[in-house]
Amino acid sequence: MISVKHYTDRMFAFRITRPASFRFRSGEFVMIGLEPPGEKPILRAYSIASPSWDEELEFFSIKVQDGPLTSKLQAIRPGDTVVLGRKSVGTLVHDALTPGERLYLFSTGTGFAPFASIIRDPETYERFRQVIVTHTCREVGELAYGFDTVEAARNDPLVGEQATAQLVHYTSVTREPWKQQKRITTLIETGELFRDLGVPPLDPATDRVMICGSLDMLNDTRALAEAAGLTEGSNAKPAEFVVEKAFVG
Ligand code: A2P
Repeated sequence: MISVKHYTDRMFAFRITRPASFRFRSGEFVMIGLEPPGEKPILRAYSIASPSWDEELEFFSIKVQDGPLTSKLQAIRPGDTVVLGRKSVGTLVHDALTPGERLYLFSTGTGFAPFASIIRDPETYERFRQVIVTHTCREVGELAYGFDTVEAARNDPLVGEQATAQLVHYTSVTREPWKQQKRITTLIETGELFRDLGVPPLDPATDRVMICGSLDMLNDTRALAEAAGLTEGSNAKPAEFVVEKAFVG
């Protein structure tokens, strides 16, 4: 482990060395964890938050106080060893979406992680004219990782120019005062999101969607994507939207 940053008492991010042989597509997840001496490894699926060209691997994690892994993982320090699975997989990848003009990345909480990878990937800006990443959290402090990453994308030598021109970051907070205090599902349902952004409502002809959050958030947002006429895609059969759960434990 190379570095760790604690954002709030519920969320932290850390970076590890990327083994030379480890390849992945932006948006995928991998098993990571700890192997306490004399004990069995404790592994969980984590979205990789760094882009696929980065020499390090970055992860953004919840802290579950009695969670088997995150209760221990939150105490890691530079120099500690993190176990990394060999193979990454996932559906929040460009290969699972058909071409479109506008890409929506809807996230709640640590569900922002795969999008932190995707918004720093040049392919994203080659495939889509506009990229709208939304992040909804309980508290204002939980948005900080998203702000850091969007700023990193806009200042990046590789994607900075495209991210500055094409990337829109939209935030809401549900349990504290903030400029927007509704759930993303409410904002989509009422059309407020599209009015705020000055764009037309979701349209399968032009829009593609990736969704990452809790199971309830996925189900509710999936229903809205379907109601707008979008079809769910996969690696085997690319279509108009894809979903993936933010894993915790
Ligand atoms: P709320 O505060 O109204 O529960 P969590 O950390 O529990 O995953 O929540 C992250 C954010 O996702 C919170 O703002 C939360 O809002 C919101 N959220 C929770 N459930 C849903 C859902 N079913 N659909 C959309 N947003 C949700």
